[in-house]
Amino acid sequence: RLADMRGLREGRLTLAIVSTAQYFLPRLLGQFCDANPGIEVALTVTNRQAVLARLAASEDDLCILGTPPEGLDVVARAIADNPLVLIARPDHPLVAEVNIPPERVAREPFLLRERGSGTRLTVERFFRARGLTLPMRMELGSNEAIKQAVIGGLGLGALSRDTLALEGTTGALKVLDVAGFPLLRQWQVAYPRGKHLSVVAQAFLDHLVAHARQAVEAGPTIARIAKEAAQE
Ligand code: PGA
Repeated sequence: RLADMRGLREGRLTLAIVSTAQYFLPRLLGQFCDANPGIEVALTVTNRQAVLARLAASEDDLCILGTPPEGLDVVARAIADNPLVLIARPDHPLVAEVNIPPERVAREPFLLRERGSGTRLTVERFFRARGLTLPMRMELGSNEAIKQAVIGGLGLGALSRDTLALEGTTGALKVLDVAGFPLLRQWQVAYPRGKHLSVVAQAFLDHLVAHARQAVEAGPTIARIAKEAAQE
């Protein structure tokens, strides 16, 4: 019977995901491909604007975004929490402070992702809604580049919490306690309304709905940040 199930799930799965999802999605894909070894996967990793364009053109079976797609006729389902945090180097003076007002943070040099990034859009919206503009020290094209620039002392960064999944053991980055943060968002899986999903795509969608929450929360740093917050 197992062989029958495997037979059903042979085929190709094409995914487009925002760059912040690359820190948990591969773990889910690993589980899925272990259970369904006949499947070939093509994964495109890019920013929000590019994923939205691919979604509009129906280029992939499924897309993963950090917040719901706006202005497109699509089916989108929330699959897990996607909080956005502000980060600093451990020796930054703001690390020791609690409940930091956004106005205070907005006086610090910031490292922001490129235009078209959902991370940048979200953080800029938060500050703009309060009449604040972040002083941009540098624009960087990836989450890893932001982390390294924060470690290099170039400024503060804004990142999806799940991008910190591997930093748990090093302590090289600290999450700031800023009023209003973390910004609460939800990972979304989306596809064009009316699109016919292949058997494989439907099976992976079901897998995401069933297991994404657990996979996201199992990130090593994530568990640690949650524990630190609980102890404070
Ligand atoms: P991005 O990720 O910044 O790579 O576009 C999307 C998001 O987290 O909203």
